[in-house]
Amino acid sequence: MRFSERVMGIEGSGIRRIFEAAGPGAVNLGLGQPDFDTPAHIKEAAVRALQEGKTGYTPNAGIPELRAAICDKLRRENGLSHRPEEILVTAGGSEALHLLMQVLVREGDRVLVPDPGFVSYAALASIAGGVPVGMPPDSSMHTDVEKAKELMDGASVMVLNSPSNPTGAVEPEESIRALVEYAADRGVTVISDEVYEHLVYGRRHVPAARFGENVITVNAASKTYAMTGWRIGFFAATQEVVDQAVKVHQYCQACATSIAQYAAVAAYTGDQSSVAEMRREYQARRDMMYEGFTRMGIYFPIPEGAFYMFVPFGRELTNRILHRGVVIVPGDAFGKNAPGHARLCYAVSRETIAEAIHRIGKAVAE
Ligand SMILES: Cc1ncc(COP(=O)(O)O)c(C=O)c1O
Repeated sequence: MRFSERVMGIEGSGIRRIFEAAGPGAVNLGLGQPDFDTPAHIKEAAVRALQEGKTGYTPNAGIPELRAAICDKLRRENGLSHRPEEILVTAGGSEALHLLMQVLVREGDRVLVPDPGFVSYAALASIAGGVPVGMPPDSSMHTDVEKAKELMDGASVMVLNSPSNPTGAVEPEESIRALVEYAADRGVTVISDEVYEHLVYGRRHVPAARFGENVITVNAASKTYAMTGWRIGFFAATQEVVDQAVKVHQYCQACATSIAQYAAVAAYTGDQSSVAEMRREYQARRDMMYEGFTRMGIYFPIPEGAFYMFVPFGRELTNRILHRGVVIVPGDAFGKNAPGHARLCYAVSRETIAEAIHRIGKAVAE
């Protein structure tokens, strides 16, 4: 059978392969998802929706209650003012990213993506016919603003991701502002992926859309409310962007899952205490893992957000750690600019972290 060149040109994510290759008894720090259960009041809202028979198609762009709840959330938490018509509810943040690339990227356009960065950005830019260009990090694993500016000429889209997967870096406000303003001057649209906004430790999340009308905010219920499997995300933009994106969305997705949308209304409008509780626990786990590395004599800047550590482990050490049954992801899965690193996810129990540190300590001592 003949396949599309665009699809043949991209590689499947390396992360799942590593996970599948690990034997039984492996300690898995490879997969990036919360180990918490979805809070009870959110599940109850889904059950209620099921019992009330809310199981049919919904409006393409999402149920009105959810689009309104997202507008309230953006105002309350991010200081952003949007109308419901400016929100498109999607199947996770992933679909929002995909739709935006389809809508914004023309054949051959340069698309700036963080490198190292979340695996989807470059692949989705390529599927849309664009040419992904990696923005390198500085020595502290934040975006190198000056280098990003140099790459911006002739680009149509720039993706920002703070807090970052895979580095855990939280961009300083002045960097975000500088990048957004520079992009605005050059007609570059910024896609700001803020799915880890609530997982920042001792810092404040800065929504990029505060600094320019050229910014589209992508977010999801997935990480904030431990709802990765429910597949609810969204983007907030101008109505013009939503009108274009909904054309693609209606043909490939129709709508996000109905009962998950009702659950998301409860998530965004209900009690937010579970978000703070999860954040406290992630921070304790981060500190525990970081101290483990410090005791081993492995030093690197402490990650300020998300639930990842991007640790300076060379390929050989990474292989030894994998052989000791700890699943970690080699840094080259996230781009070309950070060889000699590996990503570790600490959204796992404290017992799992202790066991991983024990095994990694043995691999380091070997
Ligand atoms: C930076 C980043 N953006 C987006 C996503 C996609 O999230 P969702 O599960 O909502 O599609 C992920 C998932 O790992 C991510 O790490």
